[in-house]
Amino acid sequence: MTVPPIASTPAEDLSLDDSEDGATVDMAAVLEESQVMEVLEKLDRDLVGLKPVKTRIREIAALLLVDRMRGGLGLSSQAPSLHMCFTGQPGTGKTTVALRMATILHRLGFVRKGHLVAVTRDDLVGQYIGHTAPKTKDILKKAMGGVLFIDEAYYLYRQENERDYGQETIEILLQVMENQRDDLVVILAGYKDRMDSFFQSNPGMSSRIAHHLDFPDYSIEELMEIAQLILAEQMYRFTPAAEQAFAEYLEKRMAMPYFSNARSVRNGIDRFRLRQANRLFAKGGRVSKADLITIESDDIYASRVFTEGIPDEVKPPEASPAGEEAPAH
Ligand SMILES: Nc1ncnc2c1ncn2[C@@H]1O[C@H](COP(=O)(O)OP(=O)(O)OP(=O)(O)O)[C@@H](O)[C@H]1O
Ligand SMILES: [Mg+2]
Repeated sequence: MTVPPIASTPAEDLSLDDSEDGATVDMAAVLEESQVMEVLEKLDRDLVGLKPVKTRIREIAALLLVDRMRGGLGLSSQAPSLHMCFTGQPGTGKTTVALRMATILHRLGFVRKGHLVAVTRDDLVGQYIGHTAPKTKDILKKAMGGVLFIDEAYYLYRQENERDYGQETIEILLQVMENQRDDLVVILAGYKDRMDSFFQSNPGMSSRIAHHLDFPDYSIEELMEIAQLILAEQMYRFTPAAEQAFAEYLEKRMAMPYFSNARSVRNGIDRFRLRQANRLFAKGGRVSKADLITIESDDIYASRVFTEGIPDEVKPPEASPAGEEAPAH
């Protein structure tokens, strides 16, 4: 059977006019105007590692840029779906990258304001009947024109309880994610395995997420580099012996409970600063600028990671009130 030829349509009736295929748009000018390269380069510089994440962000930025250039030539298309899911262990940079993402989306004109509203289940779901919808809508209103970042998003869904109020939040989110995608980008974040089962139970949510970014754990070398960045930002430095002590500290700390990647590095440095301050205070007399800047190996070896084989931030069992869990640091 032969397929009948499509009735010929005069070119002017088509929105895509072949005769204008030669029209051009200056990529450099669009880049310059959006200043998005600056943000991408800053992201590369400020954040250690995260190669796959950085690559995906460049790809998303390219997509948005092309979309914008198409718009400039009158090529209309539906706003691309930009909702995302960031998975990874604690302290791998999810919140930090979400903030940068909000800036990129703003520079490329995909959100009006470029702010980030970070929430968890408790901010969205009410305790009583009738409380959830207003609570969720209030947060959505605050996030409009920017990014809504939902940490540990899987807590919105409780498999064991069909009448859980979280379901109401999910339904409102689903609607807004579809209908207002040109004014709000939703980023769901959390552990990968839990997020996967959340998506399995909520296919509507899964189908609305266009980009999945997985944040790998950092290697010890990357954590050392992150430490140097944090020290520089706070105007401190390690002596060579302290650097060696910190490598040993990390090796031990990484194997202990509640290790949370870059956040544990930041928390560790906070403790070293505390010990340095105590050391200087105890010494008394005149202190030099170098003294104030320098963290010595003793400031690190005094950690309970070395002395007791436990993380500094975990309270000894007898000191913590019954039933209280150790902090997830
Ligand atoms: N690649 C990196 N380079 C430099 N600093 C980093 C990097 N990743 C994270 N950090 C720092 O580590 C800290 C924790 O990062 P962030 O809060 O983004 O992690 P997270 O993945 O959101 O953690 P959680 O899942 O616990 O919320 C921040 O202070 C951030 O500046
Ligand atoms: Mg976070």
